[in-house]
Amino acid sequence: MAEIIAFASGKGGTGKSTAAANIGAALAKLGENVLLLDMDMGQPSLDAYLGVTDKASWNLLDVFENSCTIRQAILPVRACNGLSVIPASAIRGPELLNTGRLRKFLEVLDSGFDRVLMDLPPGSRAPYGSAVALADRTIFVSTQDRVSALAVKRMADSMEERARMRSCVILNRVRTDLVKLHELPPAEEAAAAAGLPVLGIIPEDVEILLADEAGAHCVNLPTKGCAAFLRIARRLRGEHVKIRLTEKG
Ligand SMILES: Nc1ncnc2c1ncn2[C@@H]1O[C@H](COP(=O)(O)OP(=O)(O)O)[C@@H](O)[C@H]1O
Ligand SMILES: [Mg+2]
Repeated sequence: MAEIIAFASGKGGTGKSTAAANIGAALAKLGENVLLLDMDMGQPSLDAYLGVTDKASWNLLDVFENSCTIRQAILPVRACNGLSVIPASAIRGPELLNTGRLRKFLEVLDSGFDRVLMDLPPGSRAPYGSAVALADRTIFVSTQDRVSALAVKRMADSMEERARMRSCVILNRVRTDLVKLHELPPAEEAAAAAGLPVLGIIPEDVEILLADEAGAHCVNLPTKGCAAFLRIARRLRGEHVKIRLTEKG
């Protein structure tokens, strides 16, 4: 059975989709067969972050409306052996992704996947509740600021105990340069404010931002940010990879 992981955040733009794409690519690099599900209906981004927008014929809404089969919608990412994605639709339709339908979908999904990563919309917009209820674990992605970290805490506090126990947080776009200048509080403070175990720290990585801007894929880059995502993938696989709260890559 594949492990199902939900990627969530309190605020938008914290880097959930970047994290899901990069961790999926890193797990595939480590030999796993990984499926990414873009569940941010109306705001697709994973296809762009993986550089496969031109190849996408079907999306998740098509699957739920029975316009295509799951198999037809699964798009292999040619640049990353072992990684596939089902893009989100550009129109909204989250009501179709209710818990019953999502459970059935995950049950009939090809069991050849080692992990299924669900990239959710920000906050508790549907299908957040269904996805978190069905996930084996939830990874929140927060930026370093207190507002973002406190938004994660509020969401984690309103989870059922079982789901909360299996949740953790990634601190993304961490600016160690500004921390050193005392312009920003250290990552430890954001971690404490979120109130969840920290899975990893990702530095601000201008190459990720520029790849996104240029419409190129932003995974497996030879950069400190992508190296930090790879360390997270190794932690998910049970390897002991020390977390340094100031880690830069
Ligand atoms: N570690 C990082 N360093 C620099 N830019 C980043 C990083 N993570 C994400 N970004 C940029 O932040 C923006 C929002 O990221 P995205 O993953 O789409 O957020 P979300 O899915 O949470 O809305 C994108 O332009 C992306 O390239
Ligand atoms: Mg997103």
